Amino acid sequence: MRVLVTGGAGYIGSHTCVELLKAGHEVFVIDNLSNGHETSLERVRLITNCELQFTNADIRDANALDKIFNTFKPDSVIHFAGLKAVGESVANPLMYYDVNVGGSVSLLTAMSKAGCNKIVFSSSATVYGKPQYLPYDEEHPTNPVNPYGRTKLIIENIINDWTEVDTNRKGVILRYFNPVGAHESGQIGEEPIGIPNNLMPYIAQVAGGRREHLNIFGNEYDTSDGTGARDYIHVVDLALAHIGALNQNKLDMFDVLNIGAGKSTTVLELVSNFEEISGVPIKFKYLPRREGDLAAFWADSSKAFEKTSWKPERNINNICEDTWRWQKLNPNGYGIK
Ligand SMILES: NC(=O)c1ccc[n+]([C@@H]2O[C@H](COP(=O)([O-])OP(=O)(O)OC[C@H]3O[C@@H](n4cnc5c(N)ncnc54)[C@H](O)[C@@H]3O)[C@@H](O)[C@H]2O)c1
Repeated sequence: MRVLVTGGAGYIGSHTCVELLKAGHEVFVIDNLSNGHETSLERVRLITNCELQFTNADIRDANALDKIFNTFKPDSVIHFAGLKAVGESVANPLMYYDVNVGGSVSLLTAMSKAGCNKIVFSSSATVYGKPQYLPYDEEHPTNPVNPYGRTKLIIENIINDWTEVDTNRKGVILRYFNPVGAHESGQIGEEPIGIPNNLMPYIAQVAGGRREHLNIFGNEYDTSDGTGARDYIHVVDLALAHIGALNQNKLDMFDVLNIGAGKSTTVLELVSNFEEISGVPIKFKYLPRREGDLAAFWADSSKAFEKTSWKPERNINNICEDTWRWQKLNPNGYGIK
């Protein structure tokens, strides 16, 4: 298959490119490098010993998209490109609607023109909002509590409407839980620009000496040790879920799948696991809980298991080992921006 990967130079995109190339697909990446790194694509080539094509362009650039669809003629699109920082989306919602929603409309428009019928889209467990029950399954009501989450839900609905127009079209929505870890080679991983928003890169940077200590927000939640608990999914398992979604005929024209490990791990559990694997003590401080943070949540991913034969195979130990290898080999990521 020829697969166009939007946002392929980013964290999850680069890992997915590796798995696509390993599975024998041809890959074309479009990324404006606003949060991605061209070096990650060089590393993808190195890991797989395969070629992939790349254009540095914005998905809102209709001409750039048309050119790719006319020359590469993709069979499918995996759509990662977008902005993902919740706090930034609250401060600058219009930018999020423009890039995420506007970018997706632009992409679907180019697909429609070229007759490309299949899209796999990166959504998020954020679309569920406050849990009415746990684990979240795909039938759980959606009520995102910030603009980032709302852009994801709007795009899901747009893709649903787009598939209704033509029975040849297929839209698969993957709602990710908490992607973490790195490729086992240590060559590609998560490289946040500036101070990490997510826990795992923060822990890794404290262990690597790049940050002084970790702030833990809240230690009186109703969890085993009082700290917040999340469903961490290894990024390579997540990448493989996209291959499952591309290949699967059991999926409906429009289908939504949770992609998580199916259990939650607290902040302290993750910290102590990381300490054990790295041999480095992680300094941390407790701070008050943050407005809007949930105590715990995790996924029911049984629908993905049944419909795509996908199952996560990596555990928290693998996550810490692979993150630590990536951190040690790349103490400054792909190079400080
Ligand atoms: N990482 C997570 O915790 C998480 C969780 C749930 C969902 N997601 C979603 O998964 C997708 C990928 O996330 P990630 O963690 O790899 O993020 P990332 O920032 O590493 O990757 C996104 C890539 O898209 C590119 N990009 C952004 N806007 C673009 C535009 N207008 N045109 C072209 N390229 C553009 C960036 O340069 C970057 O390389 C995003 O849509 C994100 O919302 C991520």
